[in-house]
Amino acid sequence: MSVADTTPEPTLVVQHVSKSFGSVTAVQDASLSAGAGEVTAIIGDNGAGKSTLIKCVSGVHRSDAGEVCLDGHPVGFASPEEGRARGIETVYQDLALVDDLAVWQNLFLNRERTRGAGPIRFLDRQGMQREAESMLQRLDVDVPSVRERVRRLSGGQRQAVAICRAAGWGSRLVIMDEPTAALGVRETARVEELIRRLRDDGLAVLVISHNFDQVLRLSDRVWIMRQGRVVDGFRTAETSAEELVAAVTGAQRAANQPRGRSQQP
Ligand SMILES: Nc1ncnc2c1ncn2[C@@H]1O[C@H](COP(=O)(O)OP(=O)(O)OP(=O)(O)O)[C@@H](O)[C@H]1O
Ligand SMILES: [Mg+2]
Repeated sequence: MSVADTTPEPTLVVQHVSKSFGSVTAVQDASLSAGAGEVTAIIGDNGAGKSTLIKCVSGVHRSDAGEVCLDGHPVGFASPEEGRARGIETVYQDLALVDDLAVWQNLFLNRERTRGAGPIRFLDRQGMQREAESMLQRLDVDVPSVRERVRRLSGGQRQAVAICRAAGWGSRLVIMDEPTAALGVRETARVEELIRRLRDDGLAVLVISHNFDQVLRLSDRVWIMRQGRVVDGFRTAETSAEELVAAVTGAQRAANQPRGRSQQP
């Protein structure tokens, strides 16, 4: 049975997506899905095509072939802004926070709110600060103040602000590219807690991770990428670290081991 088949109407369905850069085939005929109220992981070695694939979903890249469907409708975003307008938010490895702006300004970046009437409009700073506070509170994120500059936050706090921003705007799908790669144990635990909250709020969460323990702790499903292809998919509860390592490296399965729930043809 395929993983995709067991999810009724997944929020995200990627089918047969390919993307090359010149002579480099980064993603080849990749298919996967991510359901609402679930954490879906993508794992694979360096260069396997994970980041490129999610950029094809979010609108950073245009795929050369294949289809991306959101809530059952084919979408082809020409830019990340278009993806965002349809409810796809991405937290990239570099986070794209502006260090010299305050937390609340980062949360409202490109979404500034104004007040006033007619042509006379002012930035609604206080309104945005209050809303920023409640966005952070809703997800139980602790920062010294929403007026603090992002530069002065810890790595975990910065990651939390970026995730709050991604989750805060009626998103359907939040994609995170290695959200805890740079974090210590305690900060990682907090970010994982935040990811669980998004899942429990009913969002579809797609997480790229190199940390197999994290994937086993956090995800409901996991897709394996190898050399540009999605080669396997598992329900996390039905797999093990050994099976994931074998799938990522392409090691032969022992004859008596059950096959993963592959969606490969
Ligand atoms: N903008 C680009 N231009 C040219 N080649 C690229 C570009 N982006 C990615 N590639 C190539 O595509 C392949 C897949 O890269 P990608 O970044 O998607 O891998 P990844 O699975 O995210 O790896 P990592 O775990 O190291 O982040 C690599 O060979 C990479 O060099
Ligand atoms: Mg990557």
